[in-house]
Amino acid sequence: MKAGEIRKKYLDFFEKQGHVIVPSAPLVPENDPTTLFTGSGMQPMLQYFLGTPHPLGKRVTDSQKSFRSQDIEEVGDNRHTTFFEMLGNWSFGDYFKAEQISWMFEFLTKEVGLDPNNLYVTCFRGNDDLEIPRDTFSAEKWQELFSGKGIGAEIADFPEENGMQGARIFYYNEKKNWWSRVGVPGNMPEGEPGGPDTEMFWDFGIERELHEKSQWKDEPCHVNCDCGRFVEIGNNVFMEYVKTASGFEKLPKPNVDFGGGLERLEMAARNNPDIFHIDLFDSALAVLEEESGSKYGANEKQTKAFRVILDHMRAAVFLISDGVTPSNTDQGYVLRRLIRRSVRFADTISHKHKPIDERNILGAIAEAFIQKYKGAYPELITQSDTIINEIEQEEKRFRMTLERGLKEFNKLKGKSLSGADVALLYQTFGFPFELTLEIAGEEGMTIDEEGFRVAMDDHRALSRAGSEKKFKGGLADTTEKTTRLHTAHHLLLKALQMVLGPEVHQRGSNITQERLRIDFNYGSKMTEDQKKQVEGIVNEKIKAGIEVVRTEMALEEAEKLGAEHEFNAKYPERVSVYSVGPIAHPFSLEFCGGPHVGNTNELGHFKIQKEEAVAAGIRRIKAVLE
Ligand code: SER
Repeated sequence: MKAGEIRKKYLDFFEKQGHVIVPSAPLVPENDPTTLFTGSGMQPMLQYFLGTPHPLGKRVTDSQKSFRSQDIEEVGDNRHTTFFEMLGNWSFGDYFKAEQISWMFEFLTKEVGLDPNNLYVTCFRGNDDLEIPRDTFSAEKWQELFSGKGIGAEIADFPEENGMQGARIFYYNEKKNWWSRVGVPGNMPEGEPGGPDTEMFWDFGIERELHEKSQWKDEPCHVNCDCGRFVEIGNNVFMEYVKTASGFEKLPKPNVDFGGGLERLEMAARNNPDIFHIDLFDSALAVLEEESGSKYGANEKQTKAFRVILDHMRAAVFLISDGVTPSNTDQGYVLRRLIRRSVRFADTISHKHKPIDERNILGAIAEAFIQKYKGAYPELITQSDTIINEIEQEEKRFRMTLERGLKEFNKLKGKSLSGADVALLYQTFGFPFELTLEIAGEEGMTIDEEGFRVAMDDHRALSRAGSEKKFKGGLADTTEKTTRLHTAHHLLLKALQMVLGPEVHQRGSNITQERLRIDFNYGSKMTEDQKKQVEGIVNEKIKAGIEVVRTEMALEEAEKLGAEHEFNAKYPERVSVYSVGPIAHPFSLEFCGGPHVGNTNELGHFKIQKEEAVAAGIRRIKAVLE
C-alpha cells in the first residue's frame, strides 16, 4: 500500500467516525514565538486542549506537514527523516481511551491490513511521585482486542531490563509513555497540558538479527530498543492533565491526541525497515541513481549520502513552498543548512570530476518530489518555479564558496580550529558553523566552539543562538506579556496599512515576552515620519480602550469581511477571527487563533524599536510595549 492510499484511508476512516477533515497548517507557525517549525500535528491545536472550542467541533482529523530540525544529524539511518507527514485525530473533550484504541486497532489491521501478530504496544507504568496511576485500562483494552483475533497478548513490566518476556503489551515510565510538547513531566512549565500515552510498534520480524549486529547486542531487545527491529508507528496521547505549581491537575475534560507517521505506516505495510524504500522517495531516488551511476545501497557511505539528500531535499521543497528562503537566520538558516549539506553529500557520490557548473543536481531531485506530491499538495505546482529556482541558486552559490572554503580549510588542517578560524570560514566562505563542525569531525579535528561564539558576536551568530534557545517541540507561550504584544501586533498591522497603503500584508511574525516582530511587504525604508504616524495610531487605539472580540464564522464570510489572513495558508470551513472593536465595524480584523487581551487599554505604551530590510521588498519591524 502506498502512502497516498494510507493517507486517504486514514482520513476517510476518521471522517466516518464523526471527525471533520482539516487542511495541514503551514510548516512555519504564525504567532508562535517559541518554535521555528510545526513539528507535530497537535501543535496548531494546542488551544483546543486547554478549552477554546474548535470551530469545527470536538472531532477533528488531518495529515499535518511536520519538520523537526533537531533530527538533522539523525538522518542517515533507516528510519529518521526531518520532514514527515503526521496523521492526526483529536478528541477535544469528547471520546477517550476505549474508542481511540479500538479504532486504531481496526484502522491498522483492517484498513491498512497489518498483521496483528507483528504489532506491539506500550502503556504508561504510572508514577507515585507524580500521583499519576498506571494505565491498566489501555493495557487491558489492547489485550481484549488482540484476544479477539486469537492472539495471545501478555502484559509485562520492565522490558528495559527483562526484554520481551514473551509478551505483547509493555509498561514503560514517563520517559517513553508520557507526551507533552516539552517531553517529560519535569520539563513542563505551569499551564502546559500533557498526559500518558499508548504507542504502537511494528516488528519487522525477519530483521531480528539486527539486534545481534547492533551496539545494544549485550542488552535485551525490547520494543523501544534502538537497534531498528521495531519502529513506532503511532502514538495515542491521553491529554488529561495540566501542570500546576504543585504538580498536576486534571483538565476540565480529557482529550485524545493521536499522531502517526504516514511514512512509517507505509514501511510497516511493506514490511521494509528502510523508510527510503517507500514510494514517496522512489522517483527522487531514481534521479540520484541516474546521476551517480550507482544503485542505492552500494555501500555504507553511499547509502547515508542518498538518505541525507533525499530527506533534506524533500524538506527543502516543502519549506520553500511555505515561504522560507535560504538566509542566515531562523528558518532560512535551517533551509540553507539542508541545501548545503545536500550539496556536500551529493559530491561524495558522484561526478566530482565534472566541471563545477555541470555538477548541479538538486533541481532535478526537487522536481521529482514536486511531481510526486502534487496531488496531495497542489501548492507545490503553483510554486514550482520558485522552489526550483531557490534551490538551484543556493546550490550554485554554495559550490562557489565551497571550492574556495575547502582550500582555506585544507590550509588549517592538522590543528584544532580556533574560534577565529571558524568565524573566518563562516564570514568569508559562507560555511555554516555545523558544516565546519562536520568537516572537522571527518578530519579528526576539534573546534573551539565558545571561541567561535565570541568571534562571531554579530547579528548572525546572535540570531542563530536565539533560535537554538527556542523550545524544540514548540511551546506557544501564552503568558500575559506575549498576549499583550500579540494584540499590539494586530493594531500595528492595521496602522501600517493606513500609513503605507492597503496592499501591505504580513509576511511573517514572531512574538516573545520581550518584543513583537512583524515582516511585511513594502518596497522602501520607512521614514521617521511614517514610523511616528504608525506609533501614534497604535497608541491612540490603546488609549481608546477598545474591546477585542473573538468570533467564529464560515471561511467564506470571513473572506467577505476582508479579514487579514496568513500568506499562503489554507483554512478550514469554519474559522476563528479576532476583531479589535465590534465585528460589524472593527478597527482591525484578522484570521487568528488567539490568545488576545480583552481590551486594548491593557497594553501600555507602544514603541517601534527598529525598522529594517530582511529581503527584497520585505521589511521588518521590532516593537515593544513599555
Ligand atoms: N502529539 C503526539 C506526537 O507528536 C501525538 O500526536 O507524537
